[in-house]
Amino acid sequence: EAGGGGGQTPGSGGGGTITLGFSQVGAESGWRTANTKSIQDSAKAAGIDLKFSDAQQKQENQIRAIRSFIQQKVKVIAFSPVVESGWDTVLKEAKTANIPVILTDRAIDSPDTSLYKTFLGSDFVKEGRKAGEWLTKEFASATGDVNIVELQGTTGSAPANDRKKGFAEAIASTSKFKVVASQTGEFTRAKGKEVMEAFLKSQSKIDVLYAHNDDMALGAIEAIEGAGKKPGTDIKIVSIDAVRDGMQALADGKINYIVECNPLLGPQLMDLVKKVAAGEQVPQRIETEETEFDQAKAKEVLPQRQY
Ligand code: AHR
Repeated sequence: EAGGGGGQTPGSGGGGTITLGFSQVGAESGWRTANTKSIQDSAKAAGIDLKFSDAQQKQENQIRAIRSFIQQKVKVIAFSPVVESGWDTVLKEAKTANIPVILTDRAIDSPDTSLYKTFLGSDFVKEGRKAGEWLTKEFASATGDVNIVELQGTTGSAPANDRKKGFAEAIASTSKFKVVASQTGEFTRAKGKEVMEAFLKSQSKIDVLYAHNDDMALGAIEAIEGAGKKPGTDIKIVSIDAVRDGMQALADGKINYIVECNPLLGPQLMDLVKKVAAGEQVPQRIETEETEFDQAKAKEVLPQRQY
């Protein structure tokens, strides 16, 4: 390092400030907006110099951003991987440059865990399982088939893969549950609406919508209402996130149940950034604490909901 003689240490701004390069997924959902704000606010509060880059849901943009952070010699790189696969090459480049990497929100599927220091985020399989367990209880007394349509998140992303898996596991032992259609809605409202419209045309009987996030559920609600049906009544809806608009729809009876996914990762992330910058050991995995909401609980917490 170029220390001494008034020269700046790479990765540090003036006065030993830590520079953090952060590559965000995009701005696809209310969850993501809250996550970005949490990261930006906490970096400011922690006195960390944040270089923020938005990948617009494209892996190639994230790889480019990470390479640019390496070139700029940032102290720490953090990112929320759009998809699970295909990270080894660029992360080896970061390792060779001695820049520690932190995964936030989403994991990667590389078996080489030396490519990152830690992974901070939710257990998405658990979230999917909770949605399925709610369904099992809700339809405990149903005798005929229960037809489910599923709106998946971004294809190849950890939350889409894991939420599908956890849900499927939870309903597997009950043969009346049939997933009759399952397609990506890319975690956006617009796509959620579009795909739900197609489901409503192609399926003669839909009892339940399982949406991998609130935004897709909100888009689907528009489609259901557009088709002259009552969301939450004619078609039961379970989704994941618990952002304000989702919680409002839950309180209004248009969604039946929401499994929380916590986007407020900023403060914990900045703590980890400081630790890895100082060469301290950190746990390999830090799981976010989360809860679940039914309609009554949504009404109760809505006035204090931050995002
Ligand atoms: O990775 C977290 C997921 O990404 C959120 O559940 C979803 O809303 C977001 O787009």
